[in-house]
Amino acid sequence: MLGNLQQGKHTLIIAPRRYGKSSLAERAIEQSLLASVKINFHLCTSEAEVSQLVLDSVIKLIGKSIGQVEKLMSSVKKYISNLEPLLSFEGDQVKLKLTPRNQLNHAVIISEALLLLEKLLLEKNKKAVIFLDEFQEIDKISKQRGLEGAFRTAAQEMHCLALIFSGSVRSLLLSLFEDENRPLYKLCRKIKLDRIAAEDYEKHIQKIALNTWEKHLEESTFNKIMERSNRHPYYVNYLCDAVWEASLKIPSVQDVENAWTNVVIEEWSDALRELSDLPVGQRRVIKYLANNRVESIHSQETCIALSMPTSSIATAVHVLIEKDYIEQSKNGHYNVINPLLLAVLRGAEDSRNQLL
Ligand SMILES: Nc1ncnc2c1ncn2[C@@H]1O[C@H](COP(=O)(O)OP(=O)(O)O)[C@@H](O)[C@H]1O
Ligand SMILES: [Mg+2]
Repeated sequence: MLGNLQQGKHTLIIAPRRYGKSSLAERAIEQSLLASVKINFHLCTSEAEVSQLVLDSVIKLIGKSIGQVEKLMSSVKKYISNLEPLLSFEGDQVKLKLTPRNQLNHAVIISEALLLLEKLLLEKNKKAVIFLDEFQEIDKISKQRGLEGAFRTAAQEMHCLALIFSGSVRSLLLSLFEDENRPLYKLCRKIKLDRIAAEDYEKHIQKIALNTWEKHLEESTFNKIMERSNRHPYYVNYLCDAVWEASLKIPSVQDVENAWTNVVIEEWSDALRELSDLPVGQRRVIKYLANNRVESIHSQETCIALSMPTSSIATAVHVLIEKDYIEQSKNGHYNVINPLLLAVLRGAEDSRNQLL
């Protein structure tokens, strides 16, 4: 990852929600010591907002990486034709403004702004990074694929500016970048984040245990943390926070169980809300998969248990995988990825709630 940034290569980070994609990108950028901006497309709802965000970010990055915009004006003018450069004076600061000339083609604005930055960096022999987070939103906003095309046009000409793409709907991102017919095909080096191995967590967690209680956790206690959190990075953090907060002395397996119960109780209603937003078929299937070890979704047994036709089950499973709710493990059965949803789906089975 760091190598990519230093060589001006683009990167695509793929993993389910809350696996640490954004953290990884931010850490790599920090270590690269390169000038950078992060663009988060999460709240964008239109092409106009996307192009404005890109323009603002490019200007910010020009300031950070090259500085002194007033000395750049002749170069800036040389490299743009659809944007109008203006200098404004705010206090003792000189700010660059780029306003689109009459026609408003957002794709053109985006690629021109990105390429302007690239050319300025090249001229000054500098490097910089743009982190494009929640990039899947682009797909939702731009139905004609114009915006994807704009990023591609610019990205393929970059040597000094490295892009990092990330986002949370894995299948959507993969189709953006791996479908031969789409503009962003084969543009990036791909990094797939898997769950972190228990041994790696162990080194880290035992070090903190030693610091806190002057002792290592028992193997069984550590294993319980791994089991309950399912090594999901976000929930490892969450559960450890809860365990550490509740324990004055070295915690036991039971302390981990109690802390996890509290986490589940705390998150219960949010998790239920998320599950109740799923269409009925998907909800029924995910609940079944949480409570049964299912090797084949096409089996008679599964159909009868769910009282759904095979085709509907297959569709639901497909969508649940697409949305990163479930994954198929190496030995073929289906797992719920998020340990909290798993706990709620299992708990809902026995008592608390008839909603599911
Ligand atoms: N390597 C890691 N080990 C443990 N926890 C991590 C790691 N990387 C990130 N986290 C934690 O996981 C959570 C989700 O991280 P984030 O980077 O926001 O994920 P994403 O962008 O994939 O949704 C954060 O609370 C973060 O502190
Ligand atoms: Mg993120």
